[in-house]
Amino acid sequence: MATYVEVRDEHFSLLPLSEIPGSYGLPYAGAIADRLDFFYYQGTHKFFSSRAQKYNSTVFRANMPPGPFISSNSKVIVLLDGKSFQVLFDVSKVEKKDLFTGTYMPSTSLTGGYRVLSYLDPSEPKHAKIKQLIFYLLHSRKNYFIPEFHKTYTEMFDSLEKDLSSKGEASFDKTNDQAAFNFLARAYYGVYPPETKLGSEGPNLITIWIAFQLGPILTAGLSRLIEEPLLHTFPLPPFLIKGKYNKLYDFFKNYSGVILDEAERIGLSRDEACHNLLFTTCFNTWGGLKKFFPIMFKWISQAGTKLHSQLAQEIRPVIKSNGGKVTIAALEQMPLMKSVIYECFRIEPPVPYQYGKAKKDLIIESHDSSYKVKKGEMLFGFQPFATTDPKIFERAEEFVPDRFVDDGEKMLQYVLWSNGPETESPTLDNKQCAGKDFVVLVSRLLLVEFFLRYDSFQATVSSSALGVAVTITSLKRATY
Ligand code: HEM
Repeated sequence: MATYVEVRDEHFSLLPLSEIPGSYGLPYAGAIADRLDFFYYQGTHKFFSSRAQKYNSTVFRANMPPGPFISSNSKVIVLLDGKSFQVLFDVSKVEKKDLFTGTYMPSTSLTGGYRVLSYLDPSEPKHAKIKQLIFYLLHSRKNYFIPEFHKTYTEMFDSLEKDLSSKGEASFDKTNDQAAFNFLARAYYGVYPPETKLGSEGPNLITIWIAFQLGPILTAGLSRLIEEPLLHTFPLPPFLIKGKYNKLYDFFKNYSGVILDEAERIGLSRDEACHNLLFTTCFNTWGGLKKFFPIMFKWISQAGTKLHSQLAQEIRPVIKSNGGKVTIAALEQMPLMKSVIYECFRIEPPVPYQYGKAKKDLIIESHDSSYKVKKGEMLFGFQPFATTDPKIFERAEEFVPDRFVDDGEKMLQYVLWSNGPETESPTLDNKQCAGKDFVVLVSRLLLVEFFLRYDSFQATVSSSALGVAVTITSLKRATY
């Protein structure tokens, strides 16, 4: 039951015009009450679903954390259906300046004093320049992605097996943190961190640095009496991690010379470019893989051994008939494997929150109503609801591994993890994830490398502050 999403003139709609329901409550008190509901009394999903039910609407007003005293204005218009959500990708209608993390922006002292690319609107001249540099990085290093992935993830699987035999279980997410960082350093910059001054410190340094930026919108599972004053009311002072950040910066400065030469050639300073490379590698890419790889293993482990065999049976003959070689063309011939990855992105998008500020007065549309939005109002989409919209997807809440096979491919336009439809591409003029193709490639590589080596696995799953924790409890080596 695919619903066609129509794009209409922003001042005209055939749908009945409704007042946006919901309220922001009293100044300060309303924002704090919503914050407590969001983190402690209701939790994220219930926060949104209970309000959607109360207002009988997928579009309503609410405050988004953190609120006082970190963000000066926490008022947003929440978008929960797959149709209204799409306005967030239209940069002629929404401004994407300084709202990568939402209604607050972390101090630029955490990024060398620069507003890095993720915080720039495409109307700012630096946006295109820096994005072009990221495209250059990915393009110039593309031949290293497949071999370096194989090398690093073979080491990771060896390490998982060792842990499993000595301790009876192995942490997928912790092992992946180190593997992902080593892989990225090798793939992007041709350097193996354990052989440098940085050693194996990268993942810990980055995790702390990310926590300083995302603390206001995270819960670490501690008591609210500790988290509220420590994380959600005042920003953590950046000077506390200056030394840690500088260690990372030195690593990037030492090993990204070729990319920095290109930066200079296109008119960017080496310093600004280097802080951007650090951010894109550590926050955008490493942070993304830290979140998404465990998400994939969570859903695939829960789907059970039947899916594992189907994947192994699809992957192995293709690689065999390709002379044992993993190539981009070979990956294309694995429709179930490709679909499973898109389904993981759909059911649990790794970056769940998206923001955009109305550039002008607008009319936005859900499936059944239209709404007036005033210039300057903040729109906020909660992606897990948009991509499980029952008016767009059948069995929307269910993990359906072959959802995107054959005819199902036409539904890829509603897979939105990259801040845009899966059927579209990042450009210098939009805000779609610069690494979209890279992410799809390495996700495919992970499944292919894994199911070439193993018939099946079992795991237990729990949640952690920055995502899901997956503990492998058994691995069955390939028997055919
Ligand atoms: C699983 C991994 C990843 C996920 C889930 C992810 C997700 C996203 C999302 C949702 C946005 C838009 C945020 C917003 O503006 O609201 C974004 C932007 C961005 N991502 Fe990714 N990303 C991933 C990996 C990567 C990689 C590998 C790179 C580059 C090598 C990258 C570079 C960027 C950049 C530069 C932007 C800002 C784009 C712009 O300003 O036009 N990301 N990403």
